[in-house]
Amino acid sequence: MDGVLIKNLSSQVGSEVTINGWLYNRRGSGKIQFLIIRDGTGITQGVLVKQEKPDLFDTAKKIPQESSLRVTGVVEENPKAPGGYELQVNNIEVVSEAEHYPISLKKHGVDFLADRRHLWIRTPKQSAILRIRSEIELAVHEFFNQNDFIQADAPIITPNACEGTTTLFEIDYHGESAYLSQSGQLYNEATAMALGRVYCFGPTFRAEKSKTRRHLMEFWMIEAEAAYFDFEDNLKLQEEMIYHIIQRVLKNRRAELEVLGRDISKLEAVKLPFPRLSYTEAVELLQNKGREFNWGDDFGAPDETAISEEFDSPVFIHRFPTAIKAFYMKPDPQDEKVVLGADLIAPEGYGEIIGGGQRIDDLALLEQRLEEHKLPKEAFEWYLDLRRYGSVPHSGFGLGLERTVAWICGLDHVREAIPFPRMLYCLYP
Ligand code: 4AD
Ligand code: MG
Repeated sequence: MDGVLIKNLSSQVGSEVTINGWLYNRRGSGKIQFLIIRDGTGITQGVLVKQEKPDLFDTAKKIPQESSLRVTGVVEENPKAPGGYELQVNNIEVVSEAEHYPISLKKHGVDFLADRRHLWIRTPKQSAILRIRSEIELAVHEFFNQNDFIQADAPIITPNACEGTTTLFEIDYHGESAYLSQSGQLYNEATAMALGRVYCFGPTFRAEKSKTRRHLMEFWMIEAEAAYFDFEDNLKLQEEMIYHIIQRVLKNRRAELEVLGRDISKLEAVKLPFPRLSYTEAVELLQNKGREFNWGDDFGAPDETAISEEFDSPVFIHRFPTAIKAFYMKPDPQDEKVVLGADLIAPEGYGEIIGGGQRIDDLALLEQRLEEHKLPKEAFEWYLDLRRYGSVPHSGFGLGLERTVAWICGLDHVREAIPFPRMLYCLYP
């Protein structure tokens, strides 16, 4: 492919270049035309003056929005142009002329746009979000690589539940019941016993029955697990990872954050170490703020928001009541009513982005918990083996990618944090 990327125009001032892109918009008058061109890396304008090139000017006027184009011209600096550079156009090759484009540049309702998600992602804000999402993914891989973690992906089709039985997507696996994975954790625990420090990164599935701004049916989770890591080691790993992600996005994707109108000072305010509250302290905090909340209840979204308002950085809430947490969580040896689990709550009301903790490493206790949670022991025999053959203290966590993207980008809803969201009553496109 010949041509330069719009993001690299600054190094081409004075040269003639070709851009391979699409016509995003057109502005101007009868005398001068500005073709707003996008190529996925940025937006620039092609300038055409009628008097100088009357034929090309007239041809350009008729090109419909979102036609694909190869535009050739000389690069000039112009602080007023989108991106700071423009092209004095010498030639336009229309690669494919678009039909009448359904998304005009005026404001559309979100339902209208969601039904046309495959086109909506072409707009500057949506593509900025997807670039930031990609940057976050790269930051995650970089962080784990720097910290001696091996990526070991977990299966998507699984024989057992990990996070309760109420949100399982059941599938027919050659006549046997199987489920789409809710979490790779149990497999991470196995690979951690083989490789020491591991992470998996993939889609996870939950048949959530409620419609909220924070829930998807299919979301991507980054899950880490480390042998010989205790509860404290695990919290430290999480806060360092989040901090690393924020710093990398601030460094490489500032322009995208600006396109989104994100208040960047809020991200810059995130500092290590993150504050920590025990569940019991969090309950007191809520009660002192006048909220109705009893010890033993689980936090709802408004409770999480009320807690996060008190801090600039994400806040850990740890040592939850055993009854409201998953079967695999290790009881706190100091207080058996609570477990060594922690959630990380993002600032600005974005809610829980991480769930994690130390795992039960004792075979008898794990067997007892499976029974209490009415989980079928046969399906978990392989998992119990991990406690039979060289069990060690170990800990891990899962970070929800879309909630992290929503927080960093300042989005109202997780549906914009993934290219094609899967939500209750939304399977198309
Ligand atoms: O707190 P959760 O359920 O934890 C686990 O699945 C653990 N097994 C992870 C582990 O320790 N390896 O989910 C982890 C995170 C949540 O904090 C949230 O960010 C995200 O996954 N999440 C969702 N994101 C979008 N839509 C949903 N329906 C989500 N459910 C959980
Ligand atoms: Mg959770």
